[in-house]
Amino acid sequence: MSSNQFKESKILIEDNSLDSLLDYFLTKNNLSKIFILTDENTKKYCLSILANFFYNKFDFTSIEIAGGEQNKTIESCIAIWNQLSHAGADKNSLLVNLGGGIITDIGGFVASTYLRGINFINIPTSLMGMADAAIGGKNGIDLNAIKNQIGSINFPDMIFIHSLFLKTLNDRHFKNGLVEVFKHGLIADKKLWLNLSSVEINRDSIGTILTKAIEIKNNIVTEDPYEKGIRKILNFGHTIGHALESCLLNSGEYQLLHGEAIVAGMIMETWLSEKYCGLKLDESSEITSKLFEIFGKKKLSLINFDNFISYLNYDKKNQHQQFNFSLLNAIGSCKWNIAVSLEDVKVVFNRYNATI
Ligand SMILES: NC(=O)c1ccc[n+]([C@@H]2O[C@H](COP(=O)([O-])OP(=O)(O)OC[C@H]3O[C@@H](n4cnc5c(N)ncnc54)[C@H](O)[C@@H]3O)[C@@H](O)[C@H]2O)c1
Ligand SMILES: [Zn+2]
Repeated sequence: MSSNQFKESKILIEDNSLDSLLDYFLTKNNLSKIFILTDENTKKYCLSILANFFYNKFDFTSIEIAGGEQNKTIESCIAIWNQLSHAGADKNSLLVNLGGGIITDIGGFVASTYLRGINFINIPTSLMGMADAAIGGKNGIDLNAIKNQIGSINFPDMIFIHSLFLKTLNDRHFKNGLVEVFKHGLIADKKLWLNLSSVEINRDSIGTILTKAIEIKNNIVTEDPYEKGIRKILNFGHTIGHALESCLLNSGEYQLLHGEAIVAGMIMETWLSEKYCGLKLDESSEITSKLFEIFGKKKLSLINFDNFISYLNYDKKNQHQQFNFSLLNAIGSCKWNIAVSLEDVKVVFNRYNATI
């Protein structure tokens, strides 16, 4: 798909009402049926908000799948495709993805492939979804624990962000989403990083920070929707982080949430940035001490290094057998396509594990 086919998603950020969502539905032409995709938690905590709002105005069919990264699979897609098909979804049907990054990743992929593509909108309900996953058109599923190996870039018609949904999100998942907000500051906006480092962030104070994080992501995606260049900076922390996440995907209590794996990846990639990208030592230690302080050290002792490297080999940024990283040259600035040796990946992996 060439970039001239890029359709920018409308992003609505609301704090007080659902009115702009109502406008969207009222002005949508040729809408035949509305399907709302949830997992068990977003069905419980978020669907009733939409149902009350839809009451007497629109009919919808809800589709529920089991949540969690271990269900970001083709089996979940098949279940949704079947339910759409049995309920008579046609080309003018709309899929509303109501949930965190798992739901918007899977739902976006299902909508992009059902009948060769139906319209979909994202209503992110986790901080991870609002700050990152629901924006940017990347959707997909994992294959054999390899993150996002199957998927497409296809943009939702609209993204509706409402802080109301954060009220029922638990603290672990709130912190998980905060990781990507810190990442957005580190790669593109020193002011955001400083702001994040100086105030305590919670559900009440996140408002303007979240809006800034969304703006950063959206600007980068709009500049390079199909990841030919600058969009790769959004992958800072993810080359290592995704491999860690894959290694621990089925490890029960040791399983890391996406953001928890990514923050460990961000710390290791900050150390790589010193050697490969000219990041100054004082900035490097400012970053790593802040990230350790806020997000803690993750337990990686179950990870076998060779297994970890085998997942690193699947990273989509790699070309010609080299590990390609996006690394920081300063706080607020990131470069991409930087080839890093296996030996140096091992050095930072061991350094992380040795850190107390
Ligand atoms: N497509 C992208 O650009 C992109 C970017 C970042 C992350 N991701 C993907 O996103 C996924 C992680 O997203 P996530 O952290 O949102 O995971 P998630 O979808 O599993 O949501 C986190 C948990 O919170 C629950 N939840 C969500 N909203 C809630 C609410 N309002 N109240 C109560 N509970 C709620 C969910 O049921 C789930 O248990 C990963 O697979 C990651 O790879 C994709
Ligand atoms: Zn991420």
